[in-house]
Amino acid sequence: MTSLRGPSEPAPGGTTRRFALTARTATVTLSSGRRVAAWTFDGKVPGPPITAVEGDLVEVRLRNADVTSGVTIHWHGYDVPAGEDGVPGLTQDAVRPGQEFTYRFLANQVGTYWYHTHEVSDIGVRKGLYGMLVVTRRAGGPADQVSGSGSDPASDGETGRTRDGGAGTGGPAASTPGLDLTLPVHTFGGVTVLGDHDRAIERSAAPGTPVRLRLVNTDNTPHRFTLAGTPYRLVAVDGQDLNGPGELGRVGLRLPAGGRYDLAFTMPVARTVLLAVDDRTEGLRLSPQEGAGSAGSAGDGAGWPELDITRYGTPAGTPFGPGSRFDRRFTLVLDRGLTFSGGQPLYAHTVNGRAFPSIPTQVVRDGELIRFTVVNRSRDTHPWHLHGHRVLVLSRDGRATSGSPLWLDTFDVRPGEVWEVAFRAANPGLWMNHCHNLAHADQGMVLHLNYEDVTTPFHGAHGG
Ligand code: C2O
Ligand code: CU
Repeated sequence: MTSLRGPSEPAPGGTTRRFALTARTATVTLSSGRRVAAWTFDGKVPGPPITAVEGDLVEVRLRNADVTSGVTIHWHGYDVPAGEDGVPGLTQDAVRPGQEFTYRFLANQVGTYWYHTHEVSDIGVRKGLYGMLVVTRRAGGPADQVSGSGSDPASDGETGRTRDGGAGTGGPAASTPGLDLTLPVHTFGGVTVLGDHDRAIERSAAPGTPVRLRLVNTDNTPHRFTLAGTPYRLVAVDGQDLNGPGELGRVGLRLPAGGRYDLAFTMPVARTVLLAVDDRTEGLRLSPQEGAGSAGSAGDGAGWPELDITRYGTPAGTPFGPGSRFDRRFTLVLDRGLTFSGGQPLYAHTVNGRAFPSIPTQVVRDGELIRFTVVNRSRDTHPWHLHGHRVLVLSRDGRATSGSPLWLDTFDVRPGEVWEVAFRAANPGLWMNHCHNLAHADQGMVLHLNYEDVTTPFHGAHGG
């Protein structure tokens, strides 16, 4: 494990982007003036945005000032080398007050990601130890979409990208003029917050401006988003571009815990665009000019049907599929039940009838193709998340996906559902495989996926 670290040089043409984050407790003031006692990176919630351009080397020096339970950084959805994955007790020791740890990885996945602590993560993430990771396409790279630029400062919580990606020493980035907002949704004490806004974000954008909204769910449960006032496309899911995404309107988008949706549209001429969360909270009001007319209210889309992302977009080739020959198959049956942990009875969230640490480890070999089935027999939704790999969705409830190929890092298995996904084991290490409702993970719904012949010297907390 200790040898599975990131490189020390960027890819040719890339640059090194250095960030320093200090974990510390702080009182954070939201946009309404409301104050929240938080655990933070650099005193802010969300933490400072980590931004890079494809091919850059990202170097993040984490220090812990006073988070007594310890802290790490896990790069959610980013398939970093295992030693950079930020799982205490597995890939590193938790960083205690006064200590530090430096992460290095290549920005080789373009798109919307996020980072969060993985030490007592249910409490740590809930209290604010998370931030955004956005990587934009290098200019001249393949298939520039509406991405990569914007003219807005990151001053009010949403992370507006600047032309060079917003940080570091610059370097060419895809630079379509436009507005690019990263909008993480989080719940603080029952209040829905976008970035650090607990009231609607009011912005303006000239008609014709290409707009990209990067929606990120940092909570434990799904959120429903609606966008009114313009047709739009869902152009990326979990950082990965969709193929042939069609125009959408009057639908609800259910974003799983941990997941990301990127929406793209062209700013309309005379209408205000309204992004609502859970049909009750106004998240963003985007007007063609200051003081433009109203856009209705948050509840307007309450009756809109939910988009089925397994049937959205256009099919395209994939490196493997349902008909491939798989080297291994795993089945996880999720349930709720009584287990024993250290001799004590525990009412746990279980996998195949057991809870962490008694769920057998899945063992794979480098290069294998794995088929992986998740069955939910419980009454709760389980957003399933495998570290270090993205999975291709094969089917849900026996029905093959019929839209764009869907590569996810977090797939939302609702009560009664059966998901079949597949992945190539091509990132050697010891990996967490768990429910991203972090309260469920804390109550047992965690196992490990290990590559043969990889060992770890770390034996601390299990990485919940
Ligand atoms: Cu986003 Cu193991 O986590
Ligand atoms: Cu769960």
